[in-house]
Amino acid sequence: MILAAALMMAQSAAAPATIARGETIFAQTCSVGYCHGAAGTAARGPRLRGRTFPREYLDRVVADGIPNSAMPGWKDRLKPDDMRAVVEYVVSLATATEAAPPANPMPPGVGPATLPNFNGPRLAERGHSAFFDATRDNCGICHAMGGRGNAIGPDLAKIAEKSPRDVVAAVGSVKAQHVLTATLADGETFPALQFAQNGGQIQLFDLTVIPPVLRTFNRAEVTSLRANPSWAHRDVAKIYTAAELGDIAVYLRWAATGK
Ligand code: HEC
Repeated sequence: MILAAALMMAQSAAAPATIARGETIFAQTCSVGYCHGAAGTAARGPRLRGRTFPREYLDRVVADGIPNSAMPGWKDRLKPDDMRAVVEYVVSLATATEAAPPANPMPPGVGPATLPNFNGPRLAERGHSAFFDATRDNCGICHAMGGRGNAIGPDLAKIAEKSPRDVVAAVGSVKAQHVLTATLADGETFPALQFAQNGGQIQLFDLTVIPPVLRTFNRAEVTSLRANPSWAHRDVAKIYTAAELGDIAVYLRWAATGK
């Protein structure tokens, strides 16, 4: 029966009533304070709006959560129909194009709600906007600059001192030197960056999704951490125009050197 339902789901688009129900549950359950933003915008959890996820992945993540991360599983808290409605709602967000409502308020000190307005020079302004442009998978999701963004990937300050042309070249040809492949005792593998290690615990950013999810493990759960030279950086040319990348280089240089 469940299998039949799953097959039907895969074949037909969900009824509007199901999506509407999912929207209500999402607003009550997922779009709260610290997690996903209103209508699937980014908050502390990843942005869901305008993104495509395989339905099986959503079914699994909504039911079971992402182990050792802030994303809980909901199978003990939501009825199967409600989980299905939420998944349908998130699937429907893939094509959401109308302006999203303002993002959730955030706890003090975290996220866009507290980000200062840009008050640097005109020449750096466009690059700053592009670097942190919340409507796409922007650089600031993984790189911090000028006191903003997430320091998940490397500090770009050294590279930023180069000429804008060299910066654009560097951005277009990132070689993975820090990214690892983490293998867990249960066989799961994922591209990872080590965040912290203390006592018997290790914290890894899981780069499978954007923004990367911070997961905490007991050291014994992680059976290996190996170099992952084939990890591919975001293809920035698919996200930004050449002109925008030039603007970003100018911004980075200004942020790193004041010039
Ligand atoms: C999903 C996260 C993510 C996003 C988004 C992202 N980066 Fe990166 N970036 C990384 C990681 C991780 C590395 C380090 C790879 C390694 O060395 O293994 C990196 C490396 C780099 C490097 C090389 C740094 C060095 O010291 O060698 C540059 C330059 C860079 N990124 C620029 C950018 C720019 C500009 C953008 C936006 C257009 C961007 N990145 C978006 C994660 C990201």
